[in-house]
Amino acid sequence: MVTIAISSQKGGVGKTTVAINLAHAFGRNGNRTVLVDADPQGSVGLSLTRQSRLLAGFYDYIDDAEVKVGGLLVPTRMQTLSLIPAGQASDYDLNGTPSSGVASRLRNLHGELADLGIDICIIDTAAGLFGATADVLSMADAVLMPQQAEPLGIRSVPKMLEALTRMRIANPRLVILGVVLTMMQEHLPESRDTGKALRAIMPPEMVMNTVVPRGDLFVTASARGLPAGVMEGGDEVLALFDRLRIEIESRLGFI
Ligand SMILES: Nc1ncnc2c1ncn2[C@@H]1O[C@H](COP(=O)(O)OP(=O)(O)OP(=O)(O)O)[C@@H](O)[C@H]1O
Ligand SMILES: [Mg+2]
Repeated sequence: MVTIAISSQKGGVGKTTVAINLAHAFGRNGNRTVLVDADPQGSVGLSLTRQSRLLAGFYDYIDDAEVKVGGLLVPTRMQTLSLIPAGQASDYDLNGTPSSGVASRLRNLHGELADLGIDICIIDTAAGLFGATADVLSMADAVLMPQQAEPLGIRSVPKMLEALTRMRIANPRLVILGVVLTMMQEHLPESRDTGKALRAIMPPEMVMNTVVPRGDLFVTASARGLPAGVMEGGDEVLALFDRLRIEIESRLGFI
């Protein structure tokens, strides 16, 4: 099983949107995929019914050694894609004082998912690299960093890379997939130039070729908690996230 964390220092850059659509792309490709919501705000859970907010999830698993992964998996309409909602017990993150058992619970989670035959685990994290996100990154195989295509946004990118490089001391396995630009507005020079500026300050292999454009479909889909590709007129989005999936696979050495 390959675990990919979707993380960024800044909030609102498109992490959850990328996580949902990327998990959908892997599922569509036939990879048995789990999308884990490790953000205590629980945005991925929006995709479910209101009752889903009451479901146990990721934080309950971390909190309670009795909880088994099988009981947390929520099926979706796609047989190869299931979700683990954030759950109820997010005190661990709110207090900022993770218990010493967290790392071992995360290893168990990884092991149980792998035993269930899961191929790909996508973890949507909260903004910032502390608390639960740092723990997730300490056991992930790879990290992808969505970044909004606007000039102020990229200021945080070098810091993020520095922090991730430090994190590789704790987790030498961690592959830094790099930045995926989101909400690109091709008609705005400021937005286009952000891409160029990013490529100028970062090693080229640290910026994904696939760029996610700003589009209304993402907003309407997000309100419904759905992958944008399943919405009417979503074919281009499906193709786009397939390209991102293939890029990630080749960086991870799948193909
Ligand atoms: N490509 C896009 N085009 C248009 N709107 C987008 C796009 N990507 C994300 N959005 C919108 O921007 C907002 C923030 O996106 P999202 O929730 O994915 O970011 P996030 O990084 O997960 O935020 P947070 O840090 O709060 O978890 C949402 O309302 C979402 O619908
Ligand atoms: Mg989010």
